[in-house]
Amino acid sequence: PLIPLRPLMEATIKYGFGQGAFNVNAVAQAKAAIEVHEMFRSPAILQGADLANGFMGGRTDFMNATLEDKKIGAKNIADAVKKYGADSDIPIVLHLDHGRDFDSCVAAIEGGYTSVMIDGSSLPFDENVDLTREVVKYAHARGVSVEGELGVLAGVEDHVFSASSTYTNPLKAVEFFRKTGVDALAISYGTMHGASKGKDVKLRKEIATAIRECLSHEGIFGALVSHGSSTVPKYIVDEINALGGELTNAYGISIEELQAAIPCGINKINVDTDIRLAVTRNMKELFVKYPELRTSASIGGIYELLEAKKSQFDPRVFLPPIMDTVMKGTIPDDDVAAIVNCV
Ligand code: G3H
Ligand code: 13P
Ligand code: NA
Ligand code: ZN
Repeated sequence: PLIPLRPLMEATIKYGFGQGAFNVNAVAQAKAAIEVHEMFRSPAILQGADLANGFMGGRTDFMNATLEDKKIGAKNIADAVKKYGADSDIPIVLHLDHGRDFDSCVAAIEGGYTSVMIDGSSLPFDENVDLTREVVKYAHARGVSVEGELGVLAGVEDHVFSASSTYTNPLKAVEFFRKTGVDALAISYGTMHGASKGKDVKLRKEIATAIRECLSHEGIFGALVSHGSSTVPKYIVDEINALGGELTNAYGISIEELQAAIPCGINKINVDTDIRLAVTRNMKELFVKYPELRTSASIGGIYELLEAKKSQFDPRVFLPPIMDTVMKGTIPDDDVAAIVNCV
């Protein structure tokens, strides 16, 4: 069944575990992610980023996705997750990642998302509070949970690019929870988005500890979210490069650092890059194993894109040649099925 984020966050606080939250860019990925969570007998948080909704609405140039594209995509992914979730006995949260404005959050909620993030982190504090509060009012009235963000992560963040980071001020975080009523808050404490996080990153876990202690002292509920938490496994990077990729300077956050952040108060751990890397690896491997697919009428175009963009690892850049078939949900062609299996 589908549930909002809030009760799952209550459970992580009560029992002291960290819940992974995984980004999906396609219906097939949501299905695969649910199956893996079922295998581990774990609840699941699947998240579609703002522009990922545009992509899942059929917009191949997703960077230019409009609100209309996002509306269609939100409904596509929510309908699919509801369908798979109806047969599943694990609780599933469908969460909008980095919602950029009020209307994008509304589009996700109308589509069927059970949780939304409003990312006002690039705004001055008071404007971030006002925007987030407005989303909380709309979402909570509909039983939907809300995540906000305070502080700026370095790195590429969907539409937001920040050359440097600003750590979250713990006292401001507590004030933000009190003023907005958000269920969860993304904090900046040393992680960053993307595959180039730097070697041996140490997290400022004391930031999470301080927020958690102040919240419990003041009796305020609040889940803390660790964005930019991919581990960027060396073996996947090496495999991509052995298959002709050109990824350099690829480092993630170590699993030990992430695990150590959980007792400090981190409840939700966001992962997107690792999945993108795995899908890219799988697609490259397919064309190496089966060279005849390189000239396939239906998926040869994907091979050409993989060859032309060797440092790219966002599957959305490679998938446009089969967009129509994938979005219609009918996959008549064996070659297309082989690529869909890569996700
Ligand atoms: O948190 C950031 C996401 O990884 C960005 O994903 O490119 O789908 O917006 P996006
Ligand atoms: P990564 O780029 O480290 O996977 O972070 C994902 C994320 O924070 C999604 O919101
Ligand atoms: Na941000
Ligand atoms: Zn993020």
